[in-house]
Amino acid sequence: MGLLDGKVAVVTGSGRGIGKAIALKLAKEGASVVINDLDAAPADETVNEIKNMGVKAVAAVGSVTDKEFPDKLIGAAINDLGRLDIIVNNAGYTWDAVIQKSTDEMWEAMLAVHATAPFRIMRAAAPYIRENAKKEKAEGKKVIRKIVNVTSIAGVYGNAGQINYSAGKAAIIGMTKTMGKEWGRYNVSVNAVAYGIIETRLTAPKEESEDIKVHGKDIAVGIPKTALDGFKQMIPLGRLGTLEEAAGPVLFFASPLSDYVTTETLVCSGGLRF
Ligand SMILES: NC(=O)c1ccc[n+]([C@@H]2O[C@H](COP(=O)([O-])OP(=O)(O)OC[C@H]3O[C@@H](n4cnc5c(N)ncnc54)[C@H](O)[C@@H]3O)[C@@H](O)[C@H]2O)c1
Repeated sequence: MGLLDGKVAVVTGSGRGIGKAIALKLAKEGASVVINDLDAAPADETVNEIKNMGVKAVAAVGSVTDKEFPDKLIGAAINDLGRLDIIVNNAGYTWDAVIQKSTDEMWEAMLAVHATAPFRIMRAAAPYIRENAKKEKAEGKKVIRKIVNVTSIAGVYGNAGQINYSAGKAAIIGMTKTMGKEWGRYNVSVNAVAYGIIETRLTAPKEESEDIKVHGKDIAVGIPKTALDGFKQMIPLGRLGTLEEAAGPVLFFASPLSDYVTTETLVCSGGLRF
């Protein structure tokens, strides 16, 4: 018996990193999962790992920032896996610069992926959520659905060099509070997890990290080694977080363990507050 037996989850950006760890963790607890990423190869890899566990998974390949994509993503859960219980808005990346070096393109890209995309995904899920909540209420059933939004301590506390990213990640915290209030009557709990520095390609030492490709564009990611060493000294737990440690709080919010918790942002940072 898993915590999520019979549930269906959508996890964006789950071909790699934190999203993949979340998808595997939800699947381990019995949830069928829609796996999304920009490219088919990493998405298919996660799908296969989940299928090997004996759990259902399907890929919905595409960019969460494409206007038409959220309907396809939500449709994959409802049509291919039969229902929709959990949405984890995780897809994202960094595109850092101090303000005088930040272009409009950099600003708009961060708001598009971290704020507009989750807005459209939740909006695409709204008809299903409202109709089913009303039906379940009429039948005297209580089904609690879950939205978990991934944010960052840059959105909670700010971080030099990340005006665009911190704006997007602060926006999703506001959206979490609003949707928790708006969807409480439909038994949807809406919470966010704000990560500190988790070991992924986004936080690898800049000197060793490769550019990532988003919409055909090469984007430099990573943290300069000296800054990374400085952060490690500031983290009360003295180290970066692992993928497994990042996935834990999302499972908490996705599961019945948190049914009476909504509108909250849980900081998962080893105590780091920038
Ligand atoms: N790693 C950290 O320390 C850290 C800290 C705070 C917040 N976060 C957030 O966690 C989330 C996951 O980051 P990660 O560190 O696992 O990065 P990652 O690069 O390892 O994984 C992110 C995945 O999202 C995908 N993705 C990016 N843009 C997409 C789009 N438009 N549509 C679909 N998929 C897309 C990428 O291809 C990638 O596979 C992001 O929202 C990030 O901002 C990470």
